[in-house]
Amino acid sequence: MNTARLKMVGIGKTFPGVTALDGVNIEVGQGEILALLGENGAGKSTLMKILVGVYQPDQGEIFIDGQEVSIANPRQAQELGISIIYQEFNLIPYLSVAENVFLGREPRAAKGVMDWRRLYAKTGELLEQVGLSQIAPKTTVNELSIAEQQLVEIAKALSYASKIIVMDEPTAALNEEDTQRLINIMVGLKQKGMAIIFITHRLEEVERVADQITVLRDGRFIGSAAARDMSKDDMIRMMVGRDIKDLYPKRNTRLGKTVLEVEHLTLNKKLHDISFNLAQGEILGIGGLMGSGNEILAKVLFGLYPQAKGIIKVDGGQRLRSIRDAIDAGVALVTDDRKGLGLILSMSVAENVLLAAYRRMAKLGVLAARTKQEEIVKQWVAKLRIKVQSPAVEVATLSGGNQQKVVLAKWLHMNPKVLILHEPTRGIDVGAKGEIYQLMKGLTEEGISIILISSEMPELLGMSHRILVMNDGRVTAELPIEEATQEKIFIHASGGR
Ligand SMILES: Nc1ncnc2c1ncn2[C@@H]1O[C@H](COP(=O)(O)OP(=O)(O)OP(=O)(O)O)[C@@H](O)[C@H]1O
Ligand SMILES: [Mg+2]
Repeated sequence: MNTARLKMVGIGKTFPGVTALDGVNIEVGQGEILALLGENGAGKSTLMKILVGVYQPDQGEIFIDGQEVSIANPRQAQELGISIIYQEFNLIPYLSVAENVFLGREPRAAKGVMDWRRLYAKTGELLEQVGLSQIAPKTTVNELSIAEQQLVEIAKALSYASKIIVMDEPTAALNEEDTQRLINIMVGLKQKGMAIIFITHRLEEVERVADQITVLRDGRFIGSAAARDMSKDDMIRMMVGRDIKDLYPKRNTRLGKTVLEVEHLTLNKKLHDISFNLAQGEILGIGGLMGSGNEILAKVLFGLYPQAKGIIKVDGGQRLRSIRDAIDAGVALVTDDRKGLGLILSMSVAENVLLAAYRRMAKLGVLAARTKQEEIVKQWVAKLRIKVQSPAVEVATLSGGNQQKVVLAKWLHMNPKVLILHEPTRGIDVGAKGEIYQLMKGLTEEGISIILISSEMPELLGMSHRILVMNDGRVTAELPIEEATQEKIFIHASGGR
């Protein structure tokens, strides 16, 4: 008889006020990749946290190789051969990469002394597997970019010789090149007989790698099918319950005067002589591979590196030199790092949305401010369709995609002149993506200018009026949208001309 490696049957889970899961089933065979799909808040991560013993289900059973198991905590899950790459990063920022990968199971020499040489050697091998051979195992995690941290998480999961591996949006922080590498790794693991559960909002990846697909909606099991029997449109219909056409809206045609001037921007070895302008109502896309300097450029524009040389001016005003200057001049930055710069997880949704605007709110009277605040937060929750019980709940309890929406709301509420969006739709489901694109277009029609930094080529090409491509801290091409293609961007991003 053919028993599945893993079966979860009739799983239910409620949190105070929320039914996160209701009668959900999944099944994965040995050497099989199951894509677990669903909109933001559908219950995917919750289901996986039950599998790895972080949460206990209210109902349902779990079977491994036909045996019913109970998984009381993450350690038991590990002992059963289950490992997970969490959607939210779990690395300890001030420890080294090697210490993070082998935390709690470091190789020991005689008398229990830490065997550093072996630790570094083993870590080195794992880093090589995930394409991070340029990173020394001794590097502290907080020196790594988000994408690099994601790859370290993957290396860590690989270091457990497990039979079931859960990957909760492992590609969200990765560019095309690293995604391809991860997909190759997944295929390798599959060939070794591992069962893989893969969560992603990028449906092309599902088409590339999945054997089976299971779709959840609002905590309920919608269906399962062989991947070869499902088109992307089928997946979308099952996920959102309707068709989605024209993901990208028509571009704003009324561009105004120059709002942002950047001249000869240089940051020791990281950025070299970057100059460009941005018009009112324009979306300027910035493309480039990991480490091309596009992330640093965003931070420099937001005043995070006051030592940068060159000129940044908004509306022909004073040269910007600090975050304070940038915010006062109407520059807003939505980072790709929601745990770091984006959100305070232990605060409520409302507090986070209002965080950046407190200076302005302080001008209103206290009571007036309170009602006004509630109204504002409600508006944003509705506008971005943030799935949350009440604005008073902690941001930490929101699903990943909904946390990203809170970051967006927080900065949009500042009513900025120049909005810098770094990977704005990372982890956002297809339905909500379209809404965010519409919203971006609406903003440009109101005269707001946007700098869009994205590793998703279709998004760059679909939204921008113009695209700058970066490589090694330099702008290697400026492409009007009529001339831009995926191939051209790729060539210039790799430093070719
Ligand atoms: N610890 C918690 N306390 C309260 N509610 C929670 C908690 N964890 C999850 N939820 C709620 O359960 C629901 C499902 O969340 P989950 O994180 O599983 O979604 P998801 O499918 O992973 O979404 P995404 O694609 O955005 O990551 C959401 O409504 C979420 O707010
Ligand atoms: Mg999730």
